[in-house]
Amino acid sequence: MEYDFDTIIPRRATDCEKWDLPAEDGVLPLWVADMDFRAAPAIVDALSRRVDEGVFGYALPPSSWHESLVRWLTRRHGWKIRLNSILDATGVIPALAATIRAFCKPGDKVIIQPPVYNCFYSVVHDQGCGIVENRLLRIPVPDGGEGDFTYEIDFEDLEHKAADAKLLILSNPHNPAGRAWRADELRHVGEICLRHGVFVASDEIHADLQMPGSRHVPFASLGGDFSQWSATFWSASKAFNLAGLQTAAVVCANDAARERIRHVLRVNRTGELNPFGFVASKVAWDECEGWLDALRTHIHGNYSALMEFIRDRLPVLQVARLEATYLAWVDATPLGVPSVELTHRLEHEAKVKFSSGAIYGEEKGAAYLRINLASPRATLLEALERTAGFIKELKRK
Ligand SMILES: Cc1ncc(COP(=O)(O)O)c(C=O)c1O
Repeated sequence: MEYDFDTIIPRRATDCEKWDLPAEDGVLPLWVADMDFRAAPAIVDALSRRVDEGVFGYALPPSSWHESLVRWLTRRHGWKIRLNSILDATGVIPALAATIRAFCKPGDKVIIQPPVYNCFYSVVHDQGCGIVENRLLRIPVPDGGEGDFTYEIDFEDLEHKAADAKLLILSNPHNPAGRAWRADELRHVGEICLRHGVFVASDEIHADLQMPGSRHVPFASLGGDFSQWSATFWSASKAFNLAGLQTAAVVCANDAARERIRHVLRVNRTGELNPFGFVASKVAWDECEGWLDALRTHIHGNYSALMEFIRDRLPVLQVARLEATYLAWVDATPLGVPSVELTHRLEHEAKVKFSSGAIYGEEKGAAYLRINLASPRATLLEALERTAGFIKELKRK
């Protein structure tokens, strides 16, 4: 079946963060991580049927939505989990908040791996805990690979930092570095964390968005000890564009650890789902594999278009290899403008909104942009044209 990822859907004035937050009209927003596509037809149909029921009282999520997730994880990722190892949550960030609260006291240290998803900083701080940064190491892409640079984990530094920490938040695959961590890398992380009693919170929200040649390795699939001393955070929200439905799952094989997380989810009132979230997620996993594969092809096509544009027109920029996610990580340091100022000026002068590398903890003195590739190709190319015009002006001045 053919799916359409090229029709431009007007989203301005639809009460949506991505298009309605820019104050000025006419800004192309390629920032926050949602996609400018309609959900898969089967999802829209299932939600329409649910709306037709016309009654929207408190929901009782059926175990069948967990069964769909179990089948999905087995089929797509070769990861077998027990049905009763799943908890419901109203989002990955609320579930991470509960997990930090379950395993850490205020003042305890939590490790994150910058440059990394900005909410990891806030969710740790909001629980009264301290951040410990295990910064990723930037390396050139080996010859013949896509992209100009990529990242690896600084294991030596992690060994150091783990001695004094309670929990590690893993971004697997990594937003915004674009890495789909290999089994050997995850095992190395896991061994260090086990050695120091650091609980691993593996955020796998982007797992289904693998690019050609990459494969998702769930951290907890690597073996008994790793699955016993970790929790995995999963959702259909990124891959199927359902983020507004605020539905996620926590997979935790360790009964005692899972009960601790369940308790905090209950105390925080973040464990009860709305009826649309589980209806849509279940259909996504049961019926929308073909749509997802077509989407991934489109995203990779957009990544290639971005690389080609930058190579031909903006060689001053460098692009990270994209193994997974729909988020391109672009180094704009040679422009000589700090990234907060750069994104501000791009938004107001060129009318294109990207995310500033500063919020992800980019290196000091660097200026990165995170560009959301999940739009029709024409939108992406128009945004790049505007960026090129801006950079031309910048150089002229
Ligand atoms: C790595 C990562 N984790 C979590 C989230 C947010 O999850 P949720 O909306 O389910 O809280 C995002 C959203 O962009 C993300 O990129």
